[in-house]
Formats: sequence, C-alpha cells, structure tokens
Amino acid sequence: MEYKELADKAIKAKSVSHPPYSNFHVGAALLTEEGKVYLGGNIETSSYSLTICAERTAVFKAYSEGERKFKAIAIASDAPEFCPPCGSCRQVMLDLCGDIDVVMVNHKMELKTMKLSQLLPYPFGDKELK
Ligand code: THU
Repeated sequence: MEYKELADKAIKAKSVSHPPYSNFHVGAALLTEEGKVYLGGNIETSSYSLTICAERTAVFKAYSEGERKFKAIAIASDAPEFCPPCGSCRQVMLDLCGDIDVVMVNHKMELKTMKLSQLLPYPFGDKELK
C-alpha cells in the first residue's frame, strides 16, 4: 500500500477519536506486513491521564487480533503541521512493532516519513532486561 493511501486512512480515523476535553482529534492507521490496516483514534476520559493516544489504540487493536509484524503507521491530527507521536507512543511502538516507518501527514496532504529509531534514539528495551 502506498503511504499516501495509509495517510488518507489516518485522516479518516480522526472521526473515530473521542477527545471531549482537549477537542484535539488524532487518527492513526497501522499497516501490517501483510497489508492489513488497523485504525485508531485518541480516546479521552474525565480522569485525563487515563487517555489513550490514537497510535496506541491502533497498536493494541492489532495486537489483540493476533498481529505481530508491522510495516508503518500513519498519523494525522487537527494541527496544521505534522503531528509527531508522543514519547509514550514511541516506546510502545518500538517495543511492539519494531523499527517501523512513521508517516506524518499535514493539512496540505504532505507526508513526512521517519524511521521510529530516528524518533526514539538510544531506547530502553528488551536488551536491558536480559
Ligand atoms: N495525542 C495522540 O493521540 N497522539 C499523540 O502522539 C499525541 C497526543 C492525543 C492525546 C490527547 O487526547 C490529545 O492528543 C491532546 O494531547
């Protein structure tokens, strides 16, 4: 799948987000190695810190369906500029998805693609636990 198409799906995923407190919609589309796509939106609760980001929604949905191999994740938001994933999502994605491509899309429909390892250099991980 072209990353442009994946980015379109991330934009559409904003409509399944639930951010009644921040009113900031984020959508994510996670692409498996086999070409399946899992969508996620950010979901907020009244106890703000229990909020889950769009990226982690998509990752946990995919994992709970048995997926383990991933290629890329696209991220779209209400911000006009590229929306980089937060630090918590970077750690979760690296642990659960590996060094995937992170495709950010802005309101001009331009794409910015970075390796997750560029976004989270010198990470904590499995190797420290051995
Ligand atoms: N948010 C995401 O969904 N992904 C990110 O990587 C950054 C932040 C959400 C969390 C919260 O619902 C809203 O954006 C404002 O922080």
